[in-house]
Amino acid sequence: MLADDELCLCFHVSYRKVIRYIDRNAIVVPSQVSECLGAGTGCGWCRKQITRLVSDVQLTPLRDQSLDDWLRDRAPTATAHRQGREEHRRNLAEGSSRDSCELNNT
Ligand code: FES
Repeated sequence: MLADDELCLCFHVSYRKVIRYIDRNAIVVPSQVSECLGAGTGCGWCRKQITRLVSDVQLTPLRDQSLDDWLRDRAPTATAHRQGREEHRRNLAEGSSRDSCELNNT
């Protein structure tokens, strides 16, 4: 995954935008990321990743490395991310959203 790949596929918000938003605004509550172009407010697929990024930015500041390097090993491949979202959306359509999480409760 590269920093300019989309994290929120519903609203076309890149990893770069979300990570910079978290860093610059010292975000500690994942639901606050929804203020970044609506990330996480669609199908919900990206919410777990947003929650992880909020934690990772707190634990490992971005300062001395490129965002692509920082993101390496912290995100799935773009293909896996898209395929996971398609499965998530199929599950939602079938009414079995076991895998979704509540952004407002994290
Ligand atoms: S991928 Fe982010 S809300 Fe659907």
